[in-house]
Amino acid sequence: MLGISAGIAAYKIPSLIRLFKKEGASVRVILTPDAHAFVTPLTLSVLSQEPVLSSFVSEDADNPVWNDHVALGNWADLMLIAPATANSLSAMAHAKCNNLLIATYLSARCPVMIAPAMDLDMYAHPANQKNLKTLEAYGNIVLPVGEGSLASGLEGKGRMLEPQEILEHSIRYFYSQSPLLGKKVLITAGPTYEPIDPVRFIGNFSSGKMGLALAYQAANLGAEVHLILGPHSLDTDEVPFNIEEISTADEMHAAVFNLYDTIDFAIAAAAVADFKPRMRASQKIKKETGTPLIELIPNPDILAQMGKQKKNQFLVGFALETENELVHAIEKLKRKNLDAIVLNSLADTGAGFASDTNKITYIGKNETPKSFPLKSKEDVAKDIWNEILT
Ligand code: CTP
Repeated sequence: MLGISAGIAAYKIPSLIRLFKKEGASVRVILTPDAHAFVTPLTLSVLSQEPVLSSFVSEDADNPVWNDHVALGNWADLMLIAPATANSLSAMAHAKCNNLLIATYLSARCPVMIAPAMDLDMYAHPANQKNLKTLEAYGNIVLPVGEGSLASGLEGKGRMLEPQEILEHSIRYFYSQSPLLGKKVLITAGPTYEPIDPVRFIGNFSSGKMGLALAYQAANLGAEVHLILGPHSLDTDEVPFNIEEISTADEMHAAVFNLYDTIDFAIAAAAVADFKPRMRASQKIKKETGTPLIELIPNPDILAQMGKQKKNQFLVGFALETENELVHAIEKLKRKNLDAIVLNSLADTGAGFASDTNKITYIGKNETPKSFPLKSKEDVAKDIWNEILT
């Protein structure tokens, strides 16, 4: 969301819009009423490919439309005010809601970046500097100004940064919010089903919810995510990452090692069946043949093999324990050559398999356990990624 106030530097904003569009951004524009004198709404509309707004109600007398500043504020991932004049900065700092731009600024929940532009003495005036400090204290990102010749003919500090510099500041901001940008994350989740015959299997109650929440959070942090997911009833239609659906531990094993060498972070949240039937009956086992004896053989331990083959991957396992939890979890951390283990105890109500909540203890390589209270699985996923990244 680009907010343009009435300064001469507004003439540079069309090229800023082109730069943002070239990067793939969607751009919408709000002008203060006086900014029309410096740049035409038509130019801005053509370049942004969106209607350009500057009043609370659009002007068609037969069909007035309210320009909802709250929706506009919520639409944006970043609100950029460029150029920001001394007048607009003052209105923003004091919530003086006298035009659509300031109303949208006050409603915006996204980060706000400000590119001030004015003459050198206006910029340096203590009243203006105080407003900039106030806005910074509110969490807004105030960009520096350039130094050089000003529209007044004077030389000094007060020029709006060049469009290319503003673009670079915005990109740097998004990078700083995406610590997993450029990283590949592999997550296993859900149960595995080990077939007995064409209609029966050995499985467990895992829902896959914890692994799905971890995958969403990794994607939010900028990662390329690959989720290897056992049988589930989760809604995965519109997830912003890759999902490979598998059924057995052998299939999960194959899917994992297809990717493992290229991965930066791997989290094994799946409840993999430790054993599978030696034989899978080709036809449904009938009662008349008597009580079957099903011989079990071990499944591959996927996580243990990931630990063995580990090069630069950061590897996290889960441990679901019922007694001597910490001792067992630390033993697993070492035995499987992990960088961290997330402990769930079945003794805790609301923790573990099918529920929407979980209660975990995170244990890193230093073996110091860090316990968290009961939380939604989405919040638990945030805690786990925070720990991994600190
Ligand atoms: N895991 C795996 N492959 C298996 C079994 C487990 O990748 N065949 C992973 C799980 O995804 C989890 C971790 O190993 O991250 C712990 O699994 P768990 O079954 O609790 O531990 P085990 O090593 O099997 O030990 P035990 O059954 O004795 O508790």
